[in-house]
Amino acid sequence: MRTANNGSTVVPRPETIFLEPASRRVLLHCSDIHVGRRFQPEAAEGLVRAAKRIQPDAVIVSGDLTMRARRGQFRQARALLDRLPHPMVVIPGNHDIPLYDIPMRLFAPFANYNRWIADLDDGALDLGVCAVWSVNTINRFVHQKGRIREEDFAAIEKWSRSLPPERWRIVVVHQHFANTPDNPRPGIYRHARARLERFAKAGVHLVLHGHVHQSGIFLGKDLFPGFSFPIVVAAAGTASSGRTRGGERIYQFNMITVEPDKVSVQIWNWNSALREFEPGESREIVREMYS
Ligand SMILES: [Fe+2]
Ligand SMILES: [Fe+2]
Repeated sequence: MRTANNGSTVVPRPETIFLEPASRRVLLHCSDIHVGRRFQPEAAEGLVRAAKRIQPDAVIVSGDLTMRARRGQFRQARALLDRLPHPMVVIPGNHDIPLYDIPMRLFAPFANYNRWIADLDDGALDLGVCAVWSVNTINRFVHQKGRIREEDFAAIEKWSRSLPPERWRIVVVHQHFANTPDNPRPGIYRHARARLERFAKAGVHLVLHGHVHQSGIFLGKDLFPGFSFPIVVAAAGTASSGRTRGGERIYQFNMITVEPDKVSVQIWNWNSALREFEPGESREIVREMYS
């Protein structure tokens, strides 16, 4: 049930949405759209076209819809998200609360997000072969650093317990758990290793995030040496915020295909010559890994 609030929190999620049972589901996971300075409309249009081609069963948007959380930026982000398929799971990123307007940041950080975006969030999804839960990890008191609160873990543990054992459990957050050598970024959760362990112990199979502006697919042990719990972390790069590497524009999103015995995460990259996204590297996760 949605209720109005003063913008100090994100408007509460609705009840879980159930879709007809299916043995194969496709999710499109995009992130860091960043309407504002350095926004690339051409890549955003490419994302809309790619979504039409892929026809996902659901779209996941893991935050940073705007650059500075301004009304005009949210309005434009909203118009873009309205053109992507639904149901949709969408969470705010650290750029979706004001940075310089301190009173608003402290007392109503999510006011603009709630006004323009929150009602697009269909909440938790149960898609038959997989279920999706999201967490608002934005801390108004710290610019980048994410937080996952005790009450979030309690909700995830309850959600996970309520699902049939065979359901793939997917959780969406904004920030990352560990840096990669080629892309160090501020914002990592405090006690990130323990946090990831906690997700794994709750039965979560796959954690999706954005924030790092670079797609990547990692096992827990890829991020933390000696990590023994089976869990996969998949980052979606920025879909449309100006970013270059060696003169090449880097925009990305991920396509996730879920079947009873395996999940594949495929990175789609912007091809500057073709001016379209195209499928690239993929990684398959087999269910046996979790047994
Ligand atoms: Fe971002
Ligand atoms: Fe971010």
